[in-house]
Amino acid sequence: MSIDLNTRLAKFEDLVASKVPFVEGKLEGHRDRLNYSVIGPGVSEDAKQNVKIAEAHGFNIGGVNAAPMNGSGLHSHTTAEVFLVYQGCWRFYWGVDGQDGEVFLNRGDVASFPTNMFRGFQNVGTDRGLLFVVLGENDPGVITWTPKTLSAAKDTGMVLLDDNTLVDTDLKKIPEDKKILDPLNENEIKTFDSYSVEDIEKCVVRFEDIRKMKTTDNANENYIAYIEQLKLNGHSIEPLISHHPGFNLGAVHGNDVRVKEFYTSNKHEVFMSLDGQWKIYCEDQEIVIGPKDIFSAPVNTKRRFEKINSEFGFMYLVRE
Ligand SMILES: [Fe+2]
Repeated sequence: MSIDLNTRLAKFEDLVASKVPFVEGKLEGHRDRLNYSVIGPGVSEDAKQNVKIAEAHGFNIGGVNAAPMNGSGLHSHTTAEVFLVYQGCWRFYWGVDGQDGEVFLNRGDVASFPTNMFRGFQNVGTDRGLLFVVLGENDPGVITWTPKTLSAAKDTGMVLLDDNTLVDTDLKKIPEDKKILDPLNENEIKTFDSYSVEDIEKCVVRFEDIRKMKTTDNANENYIAYIEQLKLNGHSIEPLISHHPGFNLGAVHGNDVRVKEFYTSNKHEVFMSLDGQWKIYCEDQEIVIGPKDIFSAPVNTKRRFEKINSEFGFMYLVRE
């Protein structure tokens, strides 16, 4: 095989962050935040955002690292957004004023937020927090911000133009042929959906509940399907969340996880270690990922994997 697997490996320490990835990036509560685009172009409004693996996968993976009480302002997406918490405790809140409800997620928790609703999130832990985000489709479209977020951002000099370009007016003039994006009017806001805490809890899977579930006969090897069925190693696991964002999200965990038989896929498949060292064999090569690393297997190659350290391990699988 001529593919260099290292070009498909995103070691966490090699990721290059944007410090002002979005229009609200200079506001208190949002300015101490780093944004990573790991797979696919993502949704960053920073034209200079570095993308680690740009190839279209049918989904996008990004990351957010934030100081305590920092995170993202209220915004909506046209595609599904699934959060994987890696470090810290995060508060997710939603609704046009952020008052419709809130949930708190910790390490290992997963939440899939529906399209067409305003959501924000902040790290409410005492140390820096990290989460990864999977967004549906190759082009996840533009972000829609609440009018309050856009107007607060404008006071810091940050504006979005009607072609969705982000301009820091302290550094650059607005081009004469462009105009500032109008905030949503009241009728437009009414077209967004509202959800109760009970509704959103159905889209949340907590780590402590996962750890109690037994999905195979081997106590040291468990498979989880968050979104869509997970077919792996002869198992078919039913999903815990009923969304259909256009990708599958599953996980394997335990002290002794080993897929011995090679399997082939003509779809993109991405491996993300939350815990543990994992060796992924791909054709005649192999690669090791540790916590926070991400690897994308080339399509139409045979692959298998195993955990190579002796402690508990947990790895997500994202499939196109
Ligand atoms: Fe988002």
